[in-house]
Amino acid sequence: MTGSRIIGTGSALPRRIVTNAELAQKVDTSDEWITARTGIRQRHIAEPDETTSTLAIAAARAALADAGVEASSIGLIVLATATPDNTFPATATKVQAALGCNGGIAFDVAAVCSGFLYALATADSLLRTGMAKRALVIGAETFSRILDWEDRTTCVLFGDGAGAVVLEAPLAETDAGSPGILGTRLHADGDQHDLLYVDGGPSSTQTVGHVRMRGPEVFRHAVVNLADVLREVLEDTGVTADQLDWVVPHQANARILDATARKLGISPDKVVVTVQDHANTSAASVPLALDTARKDGRIKPGDLVMLEAMGGGFTWGAVLLRW
Ligand code: UT7
Repeated sequence: MTGSRIIGTGSALPRRIVTNAELAQKVDTSDEWITARTGIRQRHIAEPDETTSTLAIAAARAALADAGVEASSIGLIVLATATPDNTFPATATKVQAALGCNGGIAFDVAAVCSGFLYALATADSLLRTGMAKRALVIGAETFSRILDWEDRTTCVLFGDGAGAVVLEAPLAETDAGSPGILGTRLHADGDQHDLLYVDGGPSSTQTVGHVRMRGPEVFRHAVVNLADVLREVLEDTGVTADQLDWVVPHQANARILDATARKLGISPDKVVVTVQDHANTSAASVPLALDTARKDGRIKPGDLVMLEAMGGGFTWGAVLLRW
C-alpha cells in the first residue's frame, strides 16, 4: 500500500546572507577553497531575534498555505532539529502553540542531518496507524549557534534555515501510480560517534558545546552509506535508478552528491542541488531543497522522488515517494 502523501511544502531562511568572502575576513579560509571543496557560495545566518522555532513556524505556515489547509486540521507535528530553542520542551510544541492547533501530538526528533528523514518516517507510521489524519513534518536548525567560529574546518560548512511539509494519511484505495511514500529505510551506527558530534550537552558538560567533525572520514562513510541505502529502497520498491525523476539529497557537499549519483548511475541533472545557496542546514536541508525544486516547477505530480540524508550518529536513510 502507498503511504502518506505530501500535500504542501514551505521553507524559511534567516534574513542575513553571509558569503564566503565575508567569512574569509574572519577565519583563515578563501572563497576558492570553500567553493572548490564543497560547492558552497553563501549561507543564511540567524540574527538574534531568529531562532529554530521562528524559522520552523514560518516554514510551517508556508507549507500550510501551499497545501491550502487550516492549521486546526493538524493533529501531529514532528520537528527534526539538533538545535532546539530549549533543552525542553520540544520546539514542536512552540510551533503548535504559534499555529494554534493545540491538543494533538507534537514532539522533536534528534537525528541531526538525517532528522527530516527520521521525522518523515515517524509521521508516516503514525498516520498509517490512524493516530492522526494530517501532520506537519519540519526540519529546522540554527546550527550557527553551535559552531566554533574559530574552527575553519567546520564553521564554513553550515547555515541556518527551516523546511516543512504537510503530510496526509494514505488514501483508502491506492494503486502503483498513486501519490505517497513508496519505501523507507533508516539506519544508525553508534560506533561512529567520534567522527561527527557536539562536545557538550546538558547531562555531560552543562554547556551547549560545539560541532566537531573529522570531515574526510565522514565524507567517505557518507558516499558508501548513501549509495547503499538508496539501493535498498530501490530494491524494496522494485524501482530502478533510471526511473527516478528527482533525487533530493541532504546538502552537505556538492562532491558527495556527485559521487553518490555516479555510484548509482543517476544523471547529475536529476539531483536537486541547493548547497551553493544554503550550505549544510542539517535537518532543514532536505525539506529546503524539496521546497525549492517544487516551487521552481522541477518536481511535478506523478514524479518519482528520492529523499536521502546522512549525519551525526551516524544516522542515515532514504525515502522514495511518488509526488
Ligand atoms: O552533514 C553531515 C555530513 N557531513 C558531511 O558530509 C561532511 C563531509 N566532509 C566534507 O564535506 C569534506 O571532508 C570537507 C569539506 C569537510 C573537507 O574537505 P576535504 O577535501 O576532505 O579537505 P581536508 O579536510 O582533507 O583538508 C584539506 C586541506 C587541509 O590542509 P593540508 O593539511 O592539506 O595542508 C586543511 O587544513 O584543507 C585545509 N582546510 C581548509 N583550508 C581553507 C580545511 N578547512 C579549510 C578551510 N579553508 N575552511
